[in-house]
Amino acid sequence: MKSLWSRKPIADLVPEGAEGKGMRRTLGTKDLIFLSIGAVIGAGIFSTLGTAAAGEIAENGEVMRFGAGPALVLSFVLLGAVCALAALCYAELASMIPQAGSAYAYSYASFGELIAWIIGWDLILEYAVGNVAVAISWSGYFDSLVSPFIKIPGWLTHGYFQAKASADPAVQALFETAPNIGGIPILINLPAFLIVMAITWLLVRGVKESTRANTVMVLIKLAVLALFVIVGSMYIEPANYTPFAPNGFTGIHHGAAIVFFAYIGFDAISTAAEEVKDPQRTMPRGLLWGLGICTLIYVIVGAVATGLVPYQQLASSDPLAHAFEIAGLQRFSWIIAAGAVVSMAAVLLVFQYGQPRIFYSMARDGLLPQGAAKLHPKYRTPHVTTIITGVCVGLAALVADDVATYDLTNIGTLFAFVLVCLGVLVLRVVEPDRPRPFKVPGVWLVGLGGASACFFVMVGLPARAWYGFGIWLAIGLVLYALYGYRNSRLRRGLPPHSYESVD
Ligand code: ALA
Repeated sequence: MKSLWSRKPIADLVPEGAEGKGMRRTLGTKDLIFLSIGAVIGAGIFSTLGTAAAGEIAENGEVMRFGAGPALVLSFVLLGAVCALAALCYAELASMIPQAGSAYAYSYASFGELIAWIIGWDLILEYAVGNVAVAISWSGYFDSLVSPFIKIPGWLTHGYFQAKASADPAVQALFETAPNIGGIPILINLPAFLIVMAITWLLVRGVKESTRANTVMVLIKLAVLALFVIVGSMYIEPANYTPFAPNGFTGIHHGAAIVFFAYIGFDAISTAAEEVKDPQRTMPRGLLWGLGICTLIYVIVGAVATGLVPYQQLASSDPLAHAFEIAGLQRFSWIIAAGAVVSMAAVLLVFQYGQPRIFYSMARDGLLPQGAAKLHPKYRTPHVTTIITGVCVGLAALVADDVATYDLTNIGTLFAFVLVCLGVLVLRVVEPDRPRPFKVPGVWLVGLGGASACFFVMVGLPARAWYGFGIWLAIGLVLYALYGYRNSRLRRGLPPHSYESVD
């Protein structure tokens, strides 16, 4: 039993970084800030903003969650502060342990193997499951974008479970009109599947090419949001700001728990620590600048969106485009849809980049089969895990429901943040002398404050998210008992699997 808590020596976690071994170190601070904005600004601001402002009402009229109204800007400020605490903790750990596995690697060193496995498993919710939601949202915007030119049949743009959860009669009608096999209607989200496949191909080809693509996508997304703010602010109706907080603090809290999705991703760049030049300095800078810039953008976009139309009217899966439509700015609405498509492709890119690197770390430690730790002989990317992730995310996006997926992603990510905040404290106690190129100032306040604040945001999520999360963790524990427990290299007294390409 004791070995379940054995901690991995940090020396084993810091890669040698010698030329010709492991992954290539090609990324600088600017690349990280761009990767961060690429990961962070996406479906959260383009889709979940609507529910966060307006709330969610069930079909029977019951309030599922209260909306923040114009006080959504306070939800953003609250989340910016919560995430800054977590980002400081990520920065200390990423500079101390510049390794591909992010929170997984940090918890292996601080809490030991069992918690590390739980976190590794939990991060699948943030990266892979989160991408399922983003791919579905991407597909919705893509459909609106091409609809003036090509009509894609509804049964090819709505997954089975998404259609089932929809209250829209036109979507419900698809169950009657879609082609069927043996009475089972074929309802698949083909664009969502295809975008995930395209991104997977790009990533197998190598990080440098994909960061270049990411930079272009980030510039486009910033331009589109700037357009939204500049044009939108000319049509603000001050009366829309009253009442400012229609559901008081509960609305701000529920709103924050939903729109937290918009913040996920600043931490994802820590998975690139093995491909970063001078990670000790570069990593904390990339994390904090990325988070700061995104928070500022969200506050401004939130203020304009809730000033443009009454907050209840933002209840839509494409609230920014919808707000422009209501305000009579149709042609801008189409540009916003185009920007959303590009932004979300950038988000998909960063998460599809991060997930295989976490699997790669876990395989190197023997918690997943060794085959997953292979690097591509030419591109030096973890191609096996990249392809497996791509296929799983693509297949799930074909049929899944996006709304339930957002909640599950949020709860899983917040849980990882809680453990990262506590992990910094544990390592300060058990490894006080280990060099820390970046040290969190006021670490006890930041660590404990960050962990409690993240937990508080988790409490704002509905019960179904907690059930789903519990089931997910239970499945993970069974898998650990069946595989990782027996094959862990640390528990067998072996060093991590070689960094060399084994193809
Ligand atoms: N923060 C990312 C998004 O909003 C996951 O799409």
